[in-house]
Amino acid sequence: MSLPSLARITAPPDPILGLTELFGSDPRPGKVNLSSGVFVDATGKTPVLDVVVEAERRLAAEAGTKLYRPIDGEPAFRKLVRGLVLGDDHEAVTSGRALATQTPGGTGGLRVAADLLRQTGSGTTLWMSEPTWPNHPQLFHAAGFRIRPYPYTDATGRRIDEAAMFAALDHASPGDVVLLHGACHNPTGVDPSPAQWRRIGDLVEERRLLPLVDLAYQGFGDGLREDAAGLLELVRPGAELLVSTSYSKTFSLYAERVGAMLVVARSAADAGAVQTHVKAAVRTNYSNPPAHGADVVRTILADAELRARWEVELAAMRTRIKDNRAALVEALEARSIPGDWTGIATQRGMFALLGLTTHQVARLRDAHAVYVVGHGRINVAGFTPANLDPFADALAAVIAD
Ligand code: LMR
Repeated sequence: MSLPSLARITAPPDPILGLTELFGSDPRPGKVNLSSGVFVDATGKTPVLDVVVEAERRLAAEAGTKLYRPIDGEPAFRKLVRGLVLGDDHEAVTSGRALATQTPGGTGGLRVAADLLRQTGSGTTLWMSEPTWPNHPQLFHAAGFRIRPYPYTDATGRRIDEAAMFAALDHASPGDVVLLHGACHNPTGVDPSPAQWRRIGDLVEERRLLPLVDLAYQGFGDGLREDAAGLLELVRPGAELLVSTSYSKTFSLYAERVGAMLVVARSAADAGAVQTHVKAAVRTNYSNPPAHGADVVRTILADAELRARWEVELAAMRTRIKDNRAALVEALEARSIPGDWTGIATQRGMFALLGLTTHQVARLRDAHAVYVVGHGRINVAGFTPANLDPFADALAAVIAD
């Protein structure tokens, strides 16, 4: 006997990807998967973007190598994604106090940020919105953080409860980490207004907290620059900030595991020192990042024509999600399902939270083969003309039960 006894007790399935596994083994025809946040087109497929196909064609034509990449990633990629988030002419970039690290997806970026903080003895308490992405608490708990929740939306679930959120964060101590969703809040789709972002920036500054922004959907809300505007409110002179970004969704590169972790330090000298710790965190975890996805993103962002084509495809995905939101509200209202659903149409990003009970979520799955995450989080980008009505019928039935 060598494994600890706990290792022989089954662990609970992942709250999101566990459902995808369950869905895969469900034999029922007409099953509907709205659990994991993946974009599908009207036929239900997750396409490879045309611009990705072109970038891969160009990469294949180059004399390639499968040599290890630098611990913190390809320099050109790191520079390009830093510009994508902060803007190339931002003071944090031109001063050299912002540095990016290539990571395996946004989850990898969050874990690198967590390890950086723990390994350098920074804050051990991390505040996160309630609700949040279910992987946030488990990831930061695994990294050794004490988790404290701050309330996010009010009872309607459609607006930020500013008073409750700021009252909770007033209890944060200097050095505590505050996790924020840069845009397209997961799971609610409710984002702070520009004034609320300013207030968050003021609070973080006054209480000397460290913001960590999860930016997994830049461009899925209102646009590339628009979706970065909130976090830019936090980039104040001399202020520090961490950002984790993902290119899974916005480049439709889910399987390639490509993302980045940005540190905005107090000064260029500080940034250089912090980067040595980032590299230590990476080296003791996965050593150095996978290359292909980052090569694709770099090829696209470095070429004006490919970049313009990507922005067109990104805008098309954004528009389709907005159209799905409107179609969903129409379908729910057409069935007179009790509740005020109108807010869903104006929320941002891939997700909406329907506020269902555990029983209702289970009934959707067991009786109707409809898979949604806890509390009724649905992937709005997963609707197609074929599954919208079956979903709305199933929801009407479980709510009427
Ligand atoms: C989601 O929230 O469904 C996505 O971010 C996918 C994931 O890794 O959970």
